[in-house]
Amino acid sequence: MKTALVLNGPNLNLLGTREPDIYGSQTLADVEKLCHAACVTHGFTLDFRQSNHEGVLVDWIQEAGRGQQAGTVAGVILNAGAYTHTSVALHDAIKGAGVTLIELHISNVHAREAFRHHSCISPAARAVMAGFGVPGYALAIAALASFS
Ligand code: DQA
Repeated sequence: MKTALVLNGPNLNLLGTREPDIYGSQTLADVEKLCHAACVTHGFTLDFRQSNHEGVLVDWIQEAGRGQQAGTVAGVILNAGAYTHTSVALHDAIKGAGVTLIELHISNVHAREAFRHHSCISPAARAVMAGFGVPGYALAIAALASFS
């Protein structure tokens, strides 16, 4: 059974209390449960992680690339949080690792402030999802299954 790696970037540990009008009231633990159920449906093992640190996310993307080459990882779903809009390092990590990656945002970033309209991740991603709320994570896992 292949692994779906769900990576969450900065401030996503605050889900549930952080700007609930934008991100909803579900916590990151709730998101993990939802991802687990979706992985059971689609025949994946879930590996669910969060970090506030850019370099840690880079390390995890490189690890996923090695796993995909070894045949153990199906791909990555990445909510890079604010690093989406700034991180050339994450862009390079995705390209360098050659990993199948879906960029995900809970909110519709294009309907928000202008600084959220640019993504460093999108040009390196296989697909981009935004604005589906927390259920978007389950949709992304279904999409990952459709790729393989
Ligand atoms: C986010 C959108 C980003 O602009 C923001 O910095 C986040 C969360 C989302 O899930 O909607 O931290 O990625």
